Amino acid sequence: MPSASPQAKIEALRQTIRHHEQQYYVLDAPEISDADYDLLMQQLKTLEAAHPQLITHDSPTQRVGGKPREGFVKAQHSRPMLSLDNVYSEAELREWERRVRELSGGRALRYVCELKLDGLSMALWYKAGELRRGLTRGDGATGEDVTSNVRTIRSVPLSVSAAARKPAGLPADFEVRGEVIMPAASFSRMNHEREQQGQAKFANPRNAAAGTIRTLEPNVVAQRRLDFFAYWLGAEGQTMMDSQSRALDALAAAGFKVNPHRELAADIDAVAAFIRKWEAERHGLGYETDGIVIKVDETAVQEQLGFTGKAPRWAIAYKYAARSGITRVLDIVVQVGRTGKLTPLAVLDPVPIGGTMVKRATLHNLDFIEQLDVRIGDRVMVERGGDVIPKVIRVVAESEAAAAPAANAPAAQAEKETARKKKKKAKKDGEIQEVMELELPEAPPSRRPGQGFVMPTQCPECNSEVVRAEGEVDYRCINAACPAKLRESILHFASRPVMNIEGLGESMVNQLAARQLVSTVADIYDLTLDQLLTLERVGEKSAQNLLDEIEASKKLPLERVIFGLGMRFVGERTAEFLAAHFGSMEALAAAGEEELQAVNEVGPRIARSIVEFFSEEHNRELIARLGEAGLTFTGIKKERATHLVGKTFVITGTLTGLSRDQARKLIEDAGGRVTGSVSKSTDYVVAGDEAGSKLDKARQLGVPVIDDQQMRKLAASGALEHS
Ligand code: IVH
Repeated sequence: MPSASPQAKIEALRQTIRHHEQQYYVLDAPEISDADYDLLMQQLKTLEAAHPQLITHDSPTQRVGGKPREGFVKAQHSRPMLSLDNVYSEAELREWERRVRELSGGRALRYVCELKLDGLSMALWYKAGELRRGLTRGDGATGEDVTSNVRTIRSVPLSVSAAARKPAGLPADFEVRGEVIMPAASFSRMNHEREQQGQAKFANPRNAAAGTIRTLEPNVVAQRRLDFFAYWLGAEGQTMMDSQSRALDALAAAGFKVNPHRELAADIDAVAAFIRKWEAERHGLGYETDGIVIKVDETAVQEQLGFTGKAPRWAIAYKYAARSGITRVLDIVVQVGRTGKLTPLAVLDPVPIGGTMVKRATLHNLDFIEQLDVRIGDRVMVERGGDVIPKVIRVVAESEAAAAPAANAPAAQAEKETARKKKKKAKKDGEIQEVMELELPEAPPSRRPGQGFVMPTQCPECNSEVVRAEGEVDYRCINAACPAKLRESILHFASRPVMNIEGLGESMVNQLAARQLVSTVADIYDLTLDQLLTLERVGEKSAQNLLDEIEASKKLPLERVIFGLGMRFVGERTAEFLAAHFGSMEALAAAGEEELQAVNEVGPRIARSIVEFFSEEHNRELIARLGEAGLTFTGIKKERATHLVGKTFVITGTLTGLSRDQARKLIEDAGGRVTGSVSKSTDYVVAGDEAGSKLDKARQLGVPVIDDQQMRKLAASGALEHS
């Protein structure tokens, strides 16, 4: 627009930039590259520099402005900023719900489930659509005005135009409350930098976010990359909208970042299901959640229920048991895995975490140990996520002793309580007694407190040479016949998700290996009753059971056998794709790298690993023997339909005709991909009943929404309608 006025040019640029900021910071769906975004920003800066009288306070260039001169000013909240009461178990949750229903006249209520974000709460005041004030919670009645810092958070809109407010039903003056968090990536980057500069590290992302928002240097805050999720909408001190779910939708429609992982639950069972689902899934989010907040959906009922001293009756926080604990490293040992990888493990003074006694935790590799500078005798923080092996997170300074647990006092309390109960029970059962009474063992002469870790040059299991391949972090035992590799590969083969041979556990495998009855997985299929009866503590019945289990495993499908071979990088899912693509072990073994890469989710690294595996003489022999033993070597070769290749689907809500897993399979069998969250690159959202935020997001982004019938049509023919 050559003839446009500078004012019009500037306004157009601002709109474009705001749009892209929204796409990037709020919706996580960028449409342009960072470089292109920077270019637009640069153009705007240049124009504004030439016409300084046209600079407005809500221009995207004005996020980082002047410093607050003398600390923060206090200001009164429009209405008290409350905290939440906590529950720690489903029973307590149901008790809360029973009370809530009783107090509201006994009718069925719906509940909004939201992730409890672990940051600090913040109130944002908008006047005439512009962000005027950001207030910390403070004592709940008055907070600190940290506006200049809040403005640097890119997901916080500096203004909400009338055009954006109207469809969302927002007045010109309104208030938004929500949580300021520091994403995990920002947190680790910041702590890394602090460490390099010799500054003390922050204990956790919440402390880091709280510390950051109170610094007096907005440009420092801007670099720290905080984020903001909105969860309350009000005007004149009153809750807006007739329900929490509508308020969240309105906030999202007006351009605020609202956490997509929310659900309107029809009853308490659905709430409980949501809680269980996120117990494991919350670890992969990239930011911390320590629980779920459950809120009565209807505003009228909320008002009827009111508040107790410091918390609303209409909401509750379900807190997950603390998944970390602090203990001492007694020793560092090395474990040899099935690929020969040497993994250093910390032997710990046993510590209860999430209901079990943790005695060992992985230290991953030598680089990790050196980075953390973990030494025997150090106090460390240990974390247990999902079902995976506990891991050492960091060294805890002796001086940190008092501060760390206090940061999570209620959870720590709950944890202690569980541990105490456990201990009592264990005593009664005469179980883990030995663990509970374990004293700090005297360090053997070679392993003194303070001693650093040295990777052994010989395999601790077979004394063979240990090597570290060029460019790899891991050390490996090079002996193909290393007993540790053998043991681990058999344990993998026999495990439940693979060949599901019950009774072939660690002690059995150790005995079989010691007697040289088994030296490869193929030997399992040659075992006889007589041989098993020579083992200790094996009677006729258990021997026969084991043989029956082994026999039954032969019927398991091809993908299990492929998974069981233990090829590097070939997990359960990849094994399924390989079985479906090739239809037989023979075809898989003969495939070259190029053909392998045609398989869903197989890239050059996996393809190379598979080809290497099958080119190894021992492996070929092993496979031949497994074939002779009668394992399933053919499968149903799915002529891979290709009409959905490159298409991405998101499934949401309750489908009527089929389960989500079935729907996923249909899509994947036609070459499509199913992902968890809706973005601009989603091709279709398959929505069933009670579809929530994902459906809203799809509509917002203009992603086509289809039902399961249409999805079947698509999967079958690649088109929605038969032409
Ligand atoms: S609602 C009166 N929703 O948890 C309603 N709070 O332990 C109070 N929090 O002070 C807040 N995620 O800082 C609400 N989705 C969420 C939340 C949330 C995190 C924080 C908030 C609150 C604290 C209470």
